[in-house]
Amino acid sequence: MKALLCTRYGGPDDLEIQNLPDPQPGPGEALVRVKAAALNFFDTLIIAGRYQYKPPMPFSPSAELAGVVEAVGDGVASVRPGDRVAAYVGSGAARDMIAVDAGRLVKIPDGLEFDRAAGVCVTYGTTLHALKDRADLKPGETLAVLGASGGVGIAAVELGKIMGARVIACASSDHKLAFAREHGADETINYANDDLKEGLRRATGGKGVDVIYDPVGGPYAEPALRSIAWKGRFLVVGFAAGEIPKIPLNLALLKGCDIVGVFWGSFIERDPAGHRANTEQLLQWCAQGKLSAHVHAVYPLAEAAAALKAIAARQVMGKIILHP
Ligand SMILES: NC(=O)c1ccc[n+]([C@@H]2O[C@H](COP(=O)([O-])OP(=O)(O)OC[C@H]3O[C@@H](n4cnc5c(N)ncnc54)[C@H](OP(=O)(O)O)[C@@H]3O)[C@@H](O)[C@H]2O)c1
Repeated sequence: MKALLCTRYGGPDDLEIQNLPDPQPGPGEALVRVKAAALNFFDTLIIAGRYQYKPPMPFSPSAELAGVVEAVGDGVASVRPGDRVAAYVGSGAARDMIAVDAGRLVKIPDGLEFDRAAGVCVTYGTTLHALKDRADLKPGETLAVLGASGGVGIAAVELGKIMGARVIACASSDHKLAFAREHGADETINYANDDLKEGLRRATGGKGVDVIYDPVGGPYAEPALRSIAWKGRFLVVGFAAGEIPKIPLNLALLKGCDIVGVFWGSFIERDPAGHRANTEQLLQWCAQGKLSAHVHAVYPLAEAAAALKAIAARQVMGKIILHP
């Protein structure tokens, strides 16, 4: 079988495609033929050795997939050959076939195609955990989303609307903001042109924002926090801008607000049943058209380098999918 491999840390052009023996499912595992593998921003970091999670070399990038069960190992009763399944696997999905712990597989509902199903677990899973478990977002509250057209960003716009919030999308171009509006955003702020703190104050009639969802960091986190409402919750999701902001702690005191960490990868290890329930719910919502699982572009495995470069160049809206 073909596999996209990281054999040494580097950039997208250092990845190579190799032929490997077909994997065999061990006890408790299922062999899945990968139909679609999704990329996330963190894949650009993992292949460079700059992410908190470092898979043993050589490894395939892509943390999530959709495909068909080919065979099952001893003791597997939850899935059988022919089932359409999706899974979060951490890394290793950018290849023709993968042997996966069967407990990680979730069946894909009818009517949801592989490309959209592949990219649901990480972005929507992270965001549901963030908005529900960490921020306790309530109907009628305001939710500001930074990087609102990206993978987790557009998930936050859509899930914020499902949860009854008034969503303020913030992004670096009018094109990206139009995309966020198409996906449900009520208000928009272009933080490349407009002052983010003033924009958020204006959009909330001076009251400040109840919940801020920040997957970007860099120069945007502090101005956003300065516009938070009394008892607001600032969700620390990621640092796509590269720089980890150093926030003056007096802001938390003065605003009477919470700065709340979101670590989905740890959440799913600590609460596998909660993770499974969330993933099943999210796939259902996608199949019912309540969530878009928007695919920005599909690349063949051989063009994975171009796909990763598009993510790093801030060009992607929604998800990038690889076809083995
Ligand atoms: N905490 C968790 O459990 C968790 C889970 C999943 C992902 N994450 C993190 O969330 C962040 C976003 O992930 P994603 O997959 O949604 O990424 P993505 O689709 O690439 O979106 C990232 C967004 O960040 C903005 N951005 C600002 N500066 C950027 C830069 N220098 N390079 C790239 N993007 C930049 C871009 O929007 P604008 O151009 O509009 O600014 C872009 O749309 C990453 O840091 C990722 O590691 C965290």
